[in-house]
Amino acid sequence: MATSGLIISLSLLLCIIPVRCFAKSCPPTSDVALFVFGDSLFDVGNNNYYLNPKIPFHFQANRLPYGQTFFNYPNGRYTDGRTIVDFIAEYANLPLALPYLHPAYQQCLDGANFASGGSGALFETNQGLVIDLKTQLKYFKNFAKLLKKRLGEDRARGFLSKAVYLISIGSNDYINRVTLDSSAYSSYSRDQYVDLVIGNLTSVIKEIHNEGGRKFGFLGLAPVGCVPLIKMRSNGTCCCNESEASVLAKLHNKALSGILKKLQKQLEGFKYSLANFYDLLTDLIHNPLKYGFKEGDVACCGSGPYRGMLTCGGILGRTNYELCKNSSEYVFFDSVHPSDRANEFFAQQMWIGHLNVAAPYNVKSLFNA
Ligand SMILES: *[C@@H]1O[C@H](CO)[C@@H](O)[C@H](O)[C@H]1NC(C)=O
Ligand SMILES: *[C@@H]1O[C@H](CO)[C@@H](O)[C@H](O)[C@H]1NC(C)=O
Ligand SMILES: *[C@@H]1O[C@H](CO)[C@@H](O)[C@H](O)[C@H]1NC(C)=O
Ligand SMILES: *[C@@H]1O[C@H](CO)[C@@H](O)[C@H](O)[C@H]1NC(C)=O
Repeated sequence: MATSGLIISLSLLLCIIPVRCFAKSCPPTSDVALFVFGDSLFDVGNNNYYLNPKIPFHFQANRLPYGQTFFNYPNGRYTDGRTIVDFIAEYANLPLALPYLHPAYQQCLDGANFASGGSGALFETNQGLVIDLKTQLKYFKNFAKLLKKRLGEDRARGFLSKAVYLISIGSNDYINRVTLDSSAYSSYSRDQYVDLVIGNLTSVIKEIHNEGGRKFGFLGLAPVGCVPLIKMRSNGTCCCNESEASVLAKLHNKALSGILKKLQKQLEGFKYSLANFYDLLTDLIHNPLKYGFKEGDVACCGSGPYRGMLTCGGILGRTNYELCKNSSEYVFFDSVHPSDRANEFFAQQMWIGHLNVAAPYNVKSLFNA
C-alpha cells in the first residue's frame, strides 16, 4: 500500500514537471514544432498518466483492442491505430509524440501533446475526469516558461511563433449537453451555450497567441448526432444530421469560423486552418465505398445498435462487446472515434486539402509559412 502510494505521488510529480524536458541531449528533429490541445481525437495517451486515485475509472483507452493495428498494444489512443495528429506529425517529419504527461516525455523541442480524452472547452465537461482545456493551457504556459529560461526570451518566442498549434475541442461539451439530463447550463439556449464554448476556446487561443503562438489548425466539429454513440439514441428516426447534437455542432462550426475571421484581423500574425470535419465525416458515413470502406454507420467495436454503446475493450467490466474482423473497413473504430484508416484520410485532408475542406490555409502551408 505504502509503495503504491509513493509511486502514485512520484508519478504525479513527474506529470506536473516532466523532468527530462529541455535536457541538453534533446535536439529538435524539425525546425517547426507541433503543439496539440484538445480531446480524444487528438489525445495520444495523456489520460493514462493523469492520475486521480479517488476516481479509478476515467476516460482511458488502455485496453485492447485499442491500439491493436499499428502499435500492437493499447497506449491511450482512442482508436485501433494512429490519431489524426500522428499522421500530421509524420507528414511534418516529426516523430510520434509521447503524451506530455508521460514520465519519459522529453521531445520538448519537437513540441508537446496536451490533449485529454473526454475534455471540453468548458471546465464542467467531465470535470475531475479529464484535463480540461484551461489546464492544458497551464501546462503549455509552464512549457513556455521553461523554454524562455533555457533559450532566452527572444529565441523562445521565435520558436513558439514558428510552431503549429492543433486544436480539437467542443464535441464533449455538446455530447454532454444532449446525453446528461442534469448538465450544467441546461437552462441556456443553444446559442448561449455555443457562445460559452466558443468564448472559452477563444480565450485559450488568445493566451497561446500571447505566448507567441501564431499558426493554428482547428478540426471543426463532426456531425455529432451521426456518431454511433449518439445515433443509437435516436431510435432510427430521420436523420442524424438533424438531431440536436448535429444542430449544435453546426452552430458551433459557424460561430468558430466567424470568430477565427475576426481573430485574424485582431491578433498580430495570426494564421489559421479550419478543417471542415463535418462535411468530410458526413460524406464518409454516407458513402463509405467511395473511400474504400465497407461500413460507415456501425462501429467496429462496441455493443448495441450501431455498436453505439461505449463498451469497447470491456470498460467497467462489460466484456461482452463485439469486435469486427478488420477495422480498416470501418469508418468508426468505437462508438465515437474514427479508425486509423479514417484518421489517415482526415489528416490528409487537413494537410493538403483545398479550400472546401481546409481554409483559408491547409496545415501543410502553416508548417511551411
Ligand atoms: C467559460 O466557461 C465558463 C463555464 O465553464 C463560463 O462561466 C465563462 O463565462 C466562459 N467564458 C467565456 C469567455 O465565455
Ligand atoms: C426509443 O424507442 C423505445 C421503444 O420504441 C422507446 O421506449 C424510447 O423511449 C425511445 N427513445 C427515444 C430517445 O426516442
Ligand atoms: C440530412 O440528410 C438527409 C439525407 O440523409 C437529407 O435529406 C437532409 O436534407 C439533410 N438535412 C440537413 C439539414 O442537411
Ligand atoms: C482489411 O481491409 C483493408 C481495406 O479494405 C484491406 O486493404 C486489408 O487487406 C484487409 N486486411 C485483412 C487482413 O483482410
